[in-house]
Amino acid sequence: MTERVYSSAVVGLGNIGMLAEADPKRLKPASHVGMHLGSSRVRLIGLVEIDAEKRRYAEERWKIPVFASIEELFKKEIPDILSVATANEAHVPVVLTAAAAKVPAIICEKPIADSIENGGLMIAACKESGSLLFVNHFRRFLPFVQKVRRQIVDEQVIGRIQQVRGLYAMGLYEMGTHLVDLFRFFLGEVEWVMGVHNKKAWNQFPGDYCADAILGFQDDVHAVIQSVDRKSWSTFEIQFVGTIGTLTLRDLGRTAEIVLAADSRLYSGFRELDYATRHSESVESESFFTPLLENVIACLDEKAKPASIGEDGVAVLTVLAALRQSAEGNGVRVDL
Ligand SMILES: NC(=O)c1ccc[n+]([C@@H]2O[C@H](COP(=O)([O-])OP(=O)(O)OC[C@H]3O[C@@H](n4cnc5c(N)ncnc54)[C@H](O)[C@@H]3O)[C@@H](O)[C@H]2O)c1
Repeated sequence: MTERVYSSAVVGLGNIGMLAEADPKRLKPASHVGMHLGSSRVRLIGLVEIDAEKRRYAEERWKIPVFASIEELFKKEIPDILSVATANEAHVPVVLTAAAAKVPAIICEKPIADSIENGGLMIAACKESGSLLFVNHFRRFLPFVQKVRRQIVDEQVIGRIQQVRGLYAMGLYEMGTHLVDLFRFFLGEVEWVMGVHNKKAWNQFPGDYCADAILGFQDDVHAVIQSVDRKSWSTFEIQFVGTIGTLTLRDLGRTAEIVLAADSRLYSGFRELDYATRHSESVESESFFTPLLENVIACLDEKAKPASIGEDGVAVLTVLAALRQSAEGNGVRVDL
């Protein structure tokens, strides 16, 4: 049986929409345009960008019709799949227009919106129109991260989770959003937060900020997040501390390293992490975009459910707002 080919389009041709494809170091596809062009199940029918210079670059490079607004694109054709890779404040108008046009699948970049209210409007509009809304907290789509979740949560390979710690850079709304989303993916809902502002860590965007914080989850599991200064170096790393060992997810989510506890060589009656047990598994060759589009296509084929939905995006925004409130109150506990 021949598989259906879905039409698609990309709105926003900046870094993650298109330009990252030109970075020789990144695994391909490295952008939304590259993702759509790289799939035999998708036909990229149009690109949308408000900046004239980027439109010219896109036309020359991809030989695909490029439009100055989503309305212009929709006059020609309404795609089955729409990537929204605009700046955060433009997510809401673009997604609302796409939902009104009944686009079947909308992929929205993270964070879902510039406010909790706007995120709620996007979810409601997509429910009303029957559009599936995917939020690109991309690790949820990665089979490797899904496997690590099964290992930790279902198989308890490091025992019961006691503590979690995560490092990020560039701002809470820029990268911290991925960390909070992944914490929710592994640990469930955040119940409370206590945070302080890290004034020494650089933010990618004005208005964003870096916070160091404790997040409380059910069963008294605590997670800490700490921000590092991207001007020195960047990172995204999580360590789960269990009752029988640790699992560290690093290389942006492509490597999982397990270290188990054993009887101490130096003290009777103590157990410690035994680094001789250290073993790791990696998926060096997996692009962050391919599994995203595979999930979208499987959902349109009615063979899967969206791995990251609007409600997840808004739940993260709610935690980020609570972190800001706590940091502004110099560490006051904020219950969610
Ligand atoms: N998932 C990830 O890991 C990841 C990584 C980087 C960026 N992002 C997210 O992707 C989005 C874009 O980030 P970026 O770094 O590519 O930003 P960017 O500024 O490089 O690109 C945004 C582009 O959107 C265009 N634009 C703005 N409003 C528009 C509109 N109404 N219609 C069409 N085009 C419009 C801008 O002109 C610009 O070219 C942000 O939400 C960001 O948080 C996600």
